[in-house]
Amino acid sequence: MASLAGRTVALAVTGSVAAYKAVEVARLCIKAGATVIPLMTTSATRFVGPVTLAGITGEAVATDMWDPSFAGEMHVSIAARADVLAIVPATADVLARLAAGRADDVVTATALCARGPVLAAPAMHPRMWVHPATQENVQALARQGRVSLVGPVHGLVASGESGVGRMAEPAAVVEAIAALLAGGGAGAGASGEGASTSHAKIERAPRDLVGKHVVVTAGPTHEPIDPVRFLGNRSSGVMGFAIASAAARRGATVTLVSGPVALSTPPSVRRVDVETAAEMQGALDAAMGDGLGAADVLVMAAAVADYRPAQASVTKIKKEGGAPPPTIALQTTPDLLAGVAARRTSARPVLVGFALETGSDAEVLAYARGKLVSKKVDLIVANAAGESLGKPTNRVAFVTASSPSPSFESGTKDALADRLVERVAELLRA
Ligand code: CTP
Repeated sequence: MASLAGRTVALAVTGSVAAYKAVEVARLCIKAGATVIPLMTTSATRFVGPVTLAGITGEAVATDMWDPSFAGEMHVSIAARADVLAIVPATADVLARLAAGRADDVVTATALCARGPVLAAPAMHPRMWVHPATQENVQALARQGRVSLVGPVHGLVASGESGVGRMAEPAAVVEAIAALLAGGGAGAGASGEGASTSHAKIERAPRDLVGKHVVVTAGPTHEPIDPVRFLGNRSSGVMGFAIASAAARRGATVTLVSGPVALSTPPSVRRVDVETAAEMQGALDAAMGDGLGAADVLVMAAAVADYRPAQASVTKIKKEGGAPPPTIALQTTPDLLAGVAARRTSARPVLVGFALETGSDAEVLAYARGKLVSKKVDLIVANAAGESLGKPTNRVAFVTASSPSPSFESGTKDALADRLVERVAELLRA
């Protein structure tokens, strides 16, 4: 668990069924050493009692900006005390109000006045999350660079339906708060002494991707066999998350489409969680828009399953005593990267794929060159499998048409992600 020792977290609860999870977030923040100032919208008080939050945090709950017993301006005073504002859960309504810069309750007024980073953990029905209005608000927040999102994730929502809209788990929210404070996401560092060395490094990153929309995929896909089993692979998602983070540091608006992984969302990155190749395709279509016009770059770092069960069983497959093991018929998943390349009518978006291969360096490069041509992309990251999977480091070569036999570079996945994004920036300039 990350340390929040000595930090002050303003925890703003808005009106969603997931509001009960904010109580756990408050408890975890306090356990991590933080002081927690609770804020609630009026609708949030219908879902969870202010007395609960006051009891856990030992602080008065700010709900009514017009409370005459409060000395001073409530939002200014909370913003001055807090190192970070975390809006947990964040409804579609509060995202809309944040995007519009409204200050019509204590939560949005404090967000507008916040001196440190602002984190929102969206929670809503999946249809509300994919609604173009919500997605436009999320894009606006990403462009403004002032509010970072953690989640939503794929899973069950209050209605009993399943999809992307479920709030990130409390532990992941606390990790994201700690990461924002440590790494300096949107607006961090305004807190002065809170600015860390890594924040100083972030400030020095060239902001040459401002105004560019970079879409990154990461992690594995899980293809269901039945409700409890799936076909998957060992991808951890670390490399893709590092690329998303590196692109955001250079000022890009970043959409990270992630398969099932156990990683926190990097600061200032919009994350869409998916499980299957088909869901990843849907998320890519939504992020890149008709005619691919909404994206400048696509980096396919995800290890998309090449095959899926032709027919997933709707009930759990049971062992039949004495019967031979079942045979699972597979079908090929669509090649998402090649599909995007086939629809591309100009040099945009810049397309980057990965080739995770075993064999000698020469063989790995030969496979990568093959994929550069067959998938019709601009750059293939040739990746030595034995030196990548499950490790914090990697060994890669960036293969392009003009550099078909580059030398391999070793380093942390963060450092190599920076190098890759630098290459992408060059391709965008070319
Ligand atoms: N990819 C994709 N859609 C798939 C499979 C892969 O977009 N259904 C992308 C990956 O994200 C990666 C690249 O294609 O960027 C990997 O290429 P691929 O040919 O699928 O690699 P392998 O699965 O290793 O295939 P092969 O067995 O041909 O080496």
